[in-house]
This record gives sequence, C-alpha cells and structure tokens, in this order.
Amino acid sequence: MADIILGIESSCDDTSAAVIKDGYLLSNVLASQDVHKAYGGVIPELASRAHQLNIVPVVSQAIDRAGIKASDITAIAFTRGPGLLGSLLVGTSFAKGLAVSLGKPLVEVNHLQGHILANFIKQKDSENRHPSFPYLCLLVSGGNSQIVKVNSPLDFEIMGQTIDDAVGEAFDKCSKMMGLGYPGGPIVDRLAKLGDPDRFHFAKPHVPGFDYSFSGVKTSLLYFVRDQIAIDPDFMEKNKEDICASFQRTLIEILMDKLIKAARQTGIKEITIGGGVSANSGLRNAVTEEGRKRGWNTYLPEFKFTTDNAAMIAIAGWFHYMNGERTSLDVAPVSRIADFK
Ligand code: KG4
Repeated sequence: MADIILGIESSCDDTSAAVIKDGYLLSNVLASQDVHKAYGGVIPELASRAHQLNIVPVVSQAIDRAGIKASDITAIAFTRGPGLLGSLLVGTSFAKGLAVSLGKPLVEVNHLQGHILANFIKQKDSENRHPSFPYLCLLVSGGNSQIVKVNSPLDFEIMGQTIDDAVGEAFDKCSKMMGLGYPGGPIVDRLAKLGDPDRFHFAKPHVPGFDYSFSGVKTSLLYFVRDQIAIDPDFMEKNKEDICASFQRTLIEILMDKLIKAARQTGIKEITIGGGVSANSGLRNAVTEEGRKRGWNTYLPEFKFTTDNAAMIAIAGWFHYMNGERTSLDVAPVSRIADFK
C-alpha cells in the first residue's frame, strides 16, 4: 500500500501543509503572514495567532488539493523544532489532535533536516534529480548558517555553523537599518542585480575551521553607511544598488570560501544548498559557477522549496516513518536545535 504523508510546518511565520505519496508531492499549501511587515521582523505572539487562524484551512486545502480523504493518510509529520515556541506549539498540537482523531501515527521532524532533504521531494513531470550520499549541504536561512555533511537521509553531521548572526539575519538587519524594508534578503538580491559588486569593500571575518561569522560584516556595513550619510544625507538613496551588490558579494564570498574548503577536505563533490537564503540569485550563480570549475554535481532547490514549506517536512517525515520511527503523543516542541533529542 502507498505511504501518504501529511506534513505540517509552523516553525516561524509561514503556515504550511503538504501531502506526499511515496515521495511524490500531491499538494503544498502555504499561508504567509503579512502582519509582520509593519514591524520589520517577526513578532512571535502575532505569528502564533496567525498560525491558529490559518492551520485548519491550510491543512484542509492540502488534503483537498491532493485529491485524498483524511482517512487515506498513513502518518502525520510535523515540525517539532527549532523555531518559535508559540508557533511550533500550534502545529504540534494540531498534528497531535489530528493523529488522535484519525487514529494515525505521528512523526516528528527537525526543521533543518527538512531543508537538507528538500531535493528529495519528487514531482510529476520533473527531472527529480537528487544528490547521492554523502553530500554537503550549505544550509542558509534566517536562523541558521551551517555546512552539513549528509551521510544518509537520517544521519548528518554539522561540520560548521555561525558563531553569531545567521546570514539571513545579516540580510534582514542591514536592509532594515538602511531603510530598504523587510524581509531584507529578496530586497537586497533585487537591488544587487542593478549595482556594481566591486565598488565597496566590507570586512570579512577570520574564523577557524568551517564556522561562520556575519556580525562583523554587518557592523562594517552599518558604520560605513552611517559615516557616509553624515557627509551626504542622500548617499544611501544615490548608491543603494552598489551598496547592496557589494554587501551581497561579501556575504556570498564568506559562504563560498568555507563550502569550497569543506568540499576539498572531505573530497565530496555532491553539493546542495537549502533554506531561505538559497533563493538568492547571486548565491545560486556562485554555487553553479564553482561547481562547474571544480567538477561538483550541484543541486539547487526549486524556489518554492527554499523558504519554509511543509513539503520538505513531509519528505523528511517519510524517511523517518520508513525507518520505523513514531512519535509519542506527549511530545513537546523545542525552540533550539540543542534541545532536539
Ligand atoms: O528558511 P527561511 O524561510 O526561514 C527562517 O529561517 O525563518 O529563511 C528566511 C530568510 C530571511 O532572512 C530572508 O531574508 C532570506 O531567507 N531570503 C533571502 C532571499 N529570499 C529569502 N536572502 C537572500 N536572497 C533572497 N533572494
């Protein structure tokens, strides 16, 4: 019999539900929360309330669009963490309630593992390329910047991670401080395409091993802009494209330097990226270009699978389900990765 997995994602500010059947995506529904735009960042309490409003219609649409009945579901996969506790609580509680009412098993998923496995989501009429094991995943989002060595779907090692801000956070905070808007990543990405990436230079960190740091480059940019505005109040308006292009180039160089080093040291040539920042056009080009030069096989997730989505939770849940894992009904969500086990 086919395995039909319902995935539920609610770790931050997107409520999402998806259905996969034997690894093939049948539906993926997402409700984003515009309420945070006015504040320039996600307000946790508003996010939890919006999840409460969205979760029932989002899950029922995912089931309808998949063309299945709720009783056809084999197991319910949900994001247990990391993320915002109140948001996670909505998804976790809903998943538990649905599991009890349908008499189906629950499977917990680590959100980051969802991003790492996003390339395994199969779609009809698609090439469905995915990396072979072991592969390296550059996982870059609003909350994480990591290089992960993935040995099998359920076995992965974090080779390096940020010691301060995540790269998405650097995009978001700098965009907000420069008055460009929120979320910063897509805005900087768009402006960067119009600017000269070699015009300005920002400090790059020297962190040993495979760890990252983004708070220095962020501070370097902010001091630079502040000093220039003191001389010419219109500096930002006149130069925003070049500033964004130069800033984005610096962030990408920092990311790529460590990824290249990790690929060289491990000898692994299967390379993927994942997380919200993997939507960045400059980063996608850089990975493709380096891959061509270095003989890597590169796998870039489709845009709809870069940001938070339940399809990746469903596929990761399917791997756990096939491995015989089931989650007990007394499970509680966890906000930090360190609390996951
Ligand atoms: O994985 P994600 O959806 O969720 C969290 O980590 O919460 O990532 C969101 C992050 C934000 O920081 C956003 O600015 C960034 O992904 N992002 C981008 C782009 N699109 C989204 N960063 C750079 N370039 C983009 N095109």
